[in-house]
Amino acid sequence: MIGVGARRNIRLLALLPTLFGTSCTPTSESLPLAAGAIGEPLAGLTAAELDRFERGRAIFRRMFTQEEGLGPRFNENSCNACHTFPADGGSGETSVTKRTALVNDQCDMLSGHGGDNVRKQVTSRAAELGARPVRDVTGATHTAVFSIPFIFGLGLVDAVPAAALEALADPDDSDGDGISGRVGRDAVGRPARFGRKADVASLADFNDSAFRLEMGLTTSLFPDEARAGGTPSVPAGADPTPEPEVADSTLDLVTDFVRYLTPVAPADSDDPLVSDGEALFDSLGCASCHVPELTTGPHSTSALSEKRFALFSDLLLHDLGPDLAGTCGPGASLTEYRTEPLMGLRYRDLFLHDGRATSVIEAVLAHGGEAAAARARFAALGRLRQEAVLRYLGTL
Ligand code: HEC
Ligand code: HEC
Repeated sequence: MIGVGARRNIRLLALLPTLFGTSCTPTSESLPLAAGAIGEPLAGLTAAELDRFERGRAIFRRMFTQEEGLGPRFNENSCNACHTFPADGGSGETSVTKRTALVNDQCDMLSGHGGDNVRKQVTSRAAELGARPVRDVTGATHTAVFSIPFIFGLGLVDAVPAAALEALADPDDSDGDGISGRVGRDAVGRPARFGRKADVASLADFNDSAFRLEMGLTTSLFPDEARAGGTPSVPAGADPTPEPEVADSTLDLVTDFVRYLTPVAPADSDDPLVSDGEALFDSLGCASCHVPELTTGPHSTSALSEKRFALFSDLLLHDLGPDLAGTCGPGASLTEYRTEPLMGLRYRDLFLHDGRATSVIEAVLAHGGEAAAARARFAALGRLRQEAVLRYLGTL
């Protein structure tokens, strides 16, 4: 991990070629930080991209009806029923319950039973035919509640080269710092970075699964209504809308809306405690997982191409210990989670995957497993230095 001081030095070094009049590829440190106001589009989008952002946002807000294929089982009828506060793409008061089965150390996402999401509602047509919401997923061995995460800056997350994540990983803890970090896997074994279990490979895949698992809407990738419905199967005629219920063009627009949402800018602060807190965040070892900045690779959208952004995550899986155990993922044990991005933390009021912590300090003190040493170093600080860390986190 590069310390704060070291990072500043790199920034100075990056200026040297300019001083001497030579040109070279800018290092990530010399790139300006991509960031904006919460819920806004990325700076530097073309007019055509902005148009897709707006059209995608309209679909993100739209309430789908059963005539269009909502359900038969579902959780909500629109994306922004969950991703609401403080702007489209934000968080919400609801949560989603997931169930998985761990059999002989293999994680079964129960896709044969409609997947790991528990659907809390049925459409009126399905109810008339006797269908009930799925409250129990057949065969599940583990349950976890997932609060609604922010989805800001995810186009940049999607554009970080896989090699950059591999470079941050240390699966066998060869540097002996007690922190390993593994790249997640999706259901078909591809490297994955989306979802708290790092179980989805791309933004497009995640949005596809959101239509299916949260809203019961089929797509061309997964046109099978049974997968969207879950078991016990829904009576024939409960959802006669022809598949796929969501056209590829609709899915692509929503994905571009999410792709073009700007990352949240850290707040400026002249509080001296904040800069103490920043240094402590690094020296306590928080930054080993909550890596302050990532840089995207070359991208066809110039607003996403070779951009530095302050995510505060390595997008890797870490074992956080038995107290936080929940469900499994294709590449994640019951106790492994993707490092939660701290970007936009000051806009949140529920913390950890299930929202069990109602304050930041409570969330920090709940870290165990690979983060136990960092937690212990934080817990051993005096009140003022703890306050410095919390004030720094309060600027994110
Ligand atoms: C019923 C509530 C609900 C609805 C409706 C919903 N989501 Fe989500 N969304 C969640 C939850 C819970 C998660 C966290 C899942 C996880 O961590 O595995 C999530 C995660 C995401 C992520 C991944 C975030 C990350 O950091 O990896 C994206 C992208 C996303 N949602 C987009 C959408 C889109 C697009 C829609 C509409 C098609 C939608 N969501 C509808 C609850 C919802
Ligand atoms: C070994 C990796 C690791 C280290 C070290 C670590 N964290 Fe975390 N942190 C995580 C993971 C993983 C989560 C998500 C846990 C969950 O969702 O249940 C998390 C969650 C959080 C959250 C809650 C964010 C939210 O929105 O839910 C905060 C705040 C936080 N960490 C701060 C810190 C601080 C401060 C330190 C240093 C004292 C630290 N972390 C050290 C991996 C780590």
